[in-house]
Amino acid sequence: MSKTILITGSTDGIGKLAAIRLAQEGHTLLLHGRNSEKLNQTISELRETTGNDKLQAFIADFTDLSSVKQMALSIKQAVDKLDVLINNAGIFQSRIAKTSKGFDIRFAVNYLAPYLLTRGLLDILGKGSRIINLSSAAQSPVSLGALKGHGTLSVQGAYAQSKLALTMWTFSLAKNIPSSVVIAVNPGSLLNTKMVQEAYGQHWSGAEKGANILFDLAIDEAYDGLTGKYFDNDKGAVKGAFGRAHADAYDEEKITRLIEVTDSLISDL
Ligand SMILES: NC(=O)c1ccc[n+]([C@@H]2O[C@H](COP(=O)([O-])OP(=O)(O)OC[C@H]3O[C@@H](n4cnc5c(N)ncnc54)[C@H](OP(=O)(O)O)[C@@H]3O)[C@@H](O)[C@H]2O)c1
Repeated sequence: MSKTILITGSTDGIGKLAAIRLAQEGHTLLLHGRNSEKLNQTISELRETTGNDKLQAFIADFTDLSSVKQMALSIKQAVDKLDVLINNAGIFQSRIAKTSKGFDIRFAVNYLAPYLLTRGLLDILGKGSRIINLSSAAQSPVSLGALKGHGTLSVQGAYAQSKLALTMWTFSLAKNIPSSVVIAVNPGSLLNTKMVQEAYGQHWSGAEKGANILFDLAIDEAYDGLTGKYFDNDKGAVKGAFGRAHADAYDEEKITRLIEVTDSLISDL
């Protein structure tokens, strides 16, 4: 059955490859990018290579949380129902470390933006919908001060904290919307994408490995009802398995505190 699927960060890397596979299957795709030229180019390419013309474009720079909120509103004007949300857009290295509001770029793009976007879309993510959040093997305990923008973190530290924050929130969200499937996924480490080439100049696996697991988690019936879980794609050469996230992702007190602080940070948006 044809589904309506939103993929953030679909202009490059595993998000774009997953979009191509899903477009080939005839699904309606809402594609997101931060750069309108690159997004339009991606859409033309997908249309040409897959023959699918059920493709819609949404622009938002995730370093600007008010534009994320605006994007959620635009999506709700465009569609009545979303079957799958893949929170894929992410950043590691960046020329600027902080957003104009003082948040670390990694916390803003990798955690606060998907948190806000998802919250804005919950009323069109009905029973049986899926939310797939892109985590990572890199997960470090979250400093709530750093999340608020205090001090300066290393690139790796900020990235790993943002990914654990996303994973902690994933598990909390899964409990709040039990009729949906909410999964955090490490798509595989050092996949061959722009992010990894810029950071490390080498890779361990092709980007297809990550795109394939996003494709499966988005639509494969095998994952029906499997919610509040962490899929670790490092667990196998071709495809991984469900596994354990960082211990803090199972710590109810830490999760409660994280969500309280997160809500306070976005309360004025
Ligand atoms: N590759 C890996 O080995 C690996 C491992 C673990 C987790 N992940 C996660 O997988 C996801 C995809 O990563 P990737 O490797 O495919 O990276 P990528 O090739 O760099 O693609 C990242 C996507 O996010 C978008 N993006 C970046 N900053 C943004 C911003 N400020 N606002 C809106 N969109 C923005 C990019 O847009 P542009 O096209 O405009 O740059 C691009 O579409 C990320 O969440 C990443 O953390 C990747």
